Amino acid sequence: MENREISQAVIGRLPRYFRYLGELKDEGVERISSQELSDIMQVTASQIRQDFNNFGGFGQQGYGYKVEYLYEEIGKILGLDRTHNLIIIGAGNLGQALANYMNFERRGFLFKGIFDKNPALWGRKIRNMEIKPMEEMEAFVREKGIDIAVLTIPKGSAVEVAEKLVANGIRGIWNFAHVDLPVPDKIQVENVHLSDSLMKLAYNINQYEHREH
Ligand code: NAI
Repeated sequence: MENREISQAVIGRLPRYFRYLGELKDEGVERISSQELSDIMQVTASQIRQDFNNFGGFGQQGYGYKVEYLYEEIGKILGLDRTHNLIIIGAGNLGQALANYMNFERRGFLFKGIFDKNPALWGRKIRNMEIKPMEEMEAFVREKGIDIAVLTIPKGSAVEVAEKLVANGIRGIWNFAHVDLPVPDKIQVENVHLSDSLMKLAYNINQYEHREH
């Protein structure tokens, strides 16, 4: 595969392909044409071919793509052919909800620990994992080879916590705090704002109403 820059828009669509192909694989489907995939996913067949051409096309021949091969290749591109060790920082509503959501582990994101600064939470168990004090966080990240930290703490302390994570070798931050994190280029940050998605929904409702009337 050529090692050139792939647009973030294409990368953003890969998890969806991966999800659909995983379902097809589980249903025992062996091959699928770009047209069939297009029908299921509501994306044009030409978009699918263009997206896949970024990665050499995945060898589509006459009668379609091999589902399992495509699923595995896209998984490799997404870095899902390896495991990632993950911790959650902030064991409040959101942190606990994420900790309780088992599905990430199926994708190789291994939940290794959860930390909070509130002593009232220390020792309490979530999915058999004790909530630990922040004082133990830095050594834990170093010693357990933690790759990813999920930040579910208020924005006021997120920058300081991110600095500690970076100093101890973290590689990626899944940031739910409403603040931009000034981290070095080598650290990957994915900001998640559920309200952005909700605003997009409001926009689409608005658009639809304007079209109808
Ligand atoms: P919460 O108040 O239930 O939990 C926050 C937890 O973080 C508390 O247990 C608190 O003790 C802990 N904490 C605070 N400062 C800390 C620090 N320096 N180190 C370690 N732990 C610390 O709040 P909730 O509902 O879980 O939300 C967490 C954060 O995520 C909030 O700042 C909220 O604004 C944000 N949020 C973001 C969303 C998004 O879509 N990006 C959606 C919902 C919440």
